[in-house]
Amino acid sequence: MMDLLLFTCAMSVLFKPYSLGPLEIRNRFMRSATTSYWSDERGFVRDENIRLYRRLAEGGVGLIVKGHLYVMDSGKAHEGMAGISHDYHVPRLKELTDAVHEHGGKIVTQLNHGGYNSISEKAGPSYYRGESWNARALSVEELHEVVEAFGDAAERSLEAGFDGIQIHGAHGYLISQFLSKEANKREDDYGGSLENRMRLLMEVYDEIRSRIGRDVPVLLKMNSDDFSLDGFTVEESAEVAQAICKRGLEAVEISGGGFGRRDDLYERARSDDPEVAEAIFAGHAVKIREATKPTTMALVNGIRSLGCMQTIVDKGLADLISMSRPFVREPDIVRKLEGGQAEATCTSCGACSGRDVFGKEMLRCHID
Ligand SMILES: Cc1cc2nc3c(=O)[nH]c(=O)nc-3n(C[C@H](O)[C@H](O)[C@H](O)COP(=O)(O)O)c2cc1C
Repeated sequence: MMDLLLFTCAMSVLFKPYSLGPLEIRNRFMRSATTSYWSDERGFVRDENIRLYRRLAEGGVGLIVKGHLYVMDSGKAHEGMAGISHDYHVPRLKELTDAVHEHGGKIVTQLNHGGYNSISEKAGPSYYRGESWNARALSVEELHEVVEAFGDAAERSLEAGFDGIQIHGAHGYLISQFLSKEANKREDDYGGSLENRMRLLMEVYDEIRSRIGRDVPVLLKMNSDDFSLDGFTVEESAEVAQAICKRGLEAVEISGGGFGRRDDLYERARSDDPEVAEAIFAGHAVKIREATKPTTMALVNGIRSLGCMQTIVDKGLADLISMSRPFVREPDIVRKLEGGQAEATCTSCGACSGRDVFGKEMLRCHID
């Protein structure tokens, strides 16, 4: 049985190089952005963070997405989040990318702005009155500053040695808030129709591209669905993904869960194919894939077994297998899978992302 698994792995495209536009990666595995919530108060990564990225690269993963980085101080989303809002952040980040490159890995930044989720001031698409907080609307002038900040952060990313840029357009942060009709009640050019709600994302993309050119890939992590009652839907997601892919995006990573998220609505994203049942968003991914071919697609959330990973690429649901929590527990999971381990031992308990430890300790698996 083990011999057969090893033989299958040796043949599998999962472990063979893949071209992500101009970037060659050594296999189809992607470590999805995972904040270690352990950078210091000024947003500098610590030695422990650098060691983690070294271990990930040693463990054989093809592409690493660094945990999200705030592009402006006012967009910092939580304690312990790392920054790329100033030139002074660059040298430490360069140490981190050097550690990855020394071990044959490739790494991209993930650029983010917290919007309503920011620590210093809650500001987003529109005035919002939550149960325990109020947020104000960002002015058009401020949106131009946000776009500019994403561009500056993209340039800094290259100075810091990153191999590409991922825009964080998922999980209820600023860009995903703009996409959602539940969070975005604006009445100007950035609200209302889907075309208007996607305007900020398109401006951010165009700005980044104008700063870094075409030799470096730009990726987008986006929601397939907000899983809220009146938020961003899979049909809208397919439209936005298609529009940005037509502009030249290199890869879209499909995730889900945004503003007003309700756990009981997740079922609607599943596939009825039992072979990919563990991949939570597989059903939605098929719909988005139709609209974005031939752009590279990565799929994240719940993927744990080699069988499921193989089926995802064999059936063309996605090109890249993206995971987060399995790498927290087993930074060398890719080597283990290649060596015959049938699945990640992560149980998806979620203890590693308990927000009470953000800024207080380094990311770790809490299960023995
Ligand atoms: C500790 C932790 C930190 C995370 N940080 C980020 C992040 O910085 N950016 C992001 O897009 N997603 C983040 N995520 C979400 C993951 O990238 C991923 O989408 C999610 O965990 C589902 O994938 P999984 O089932 O393979 O863990 C984080 C998840 C965890 C558990």
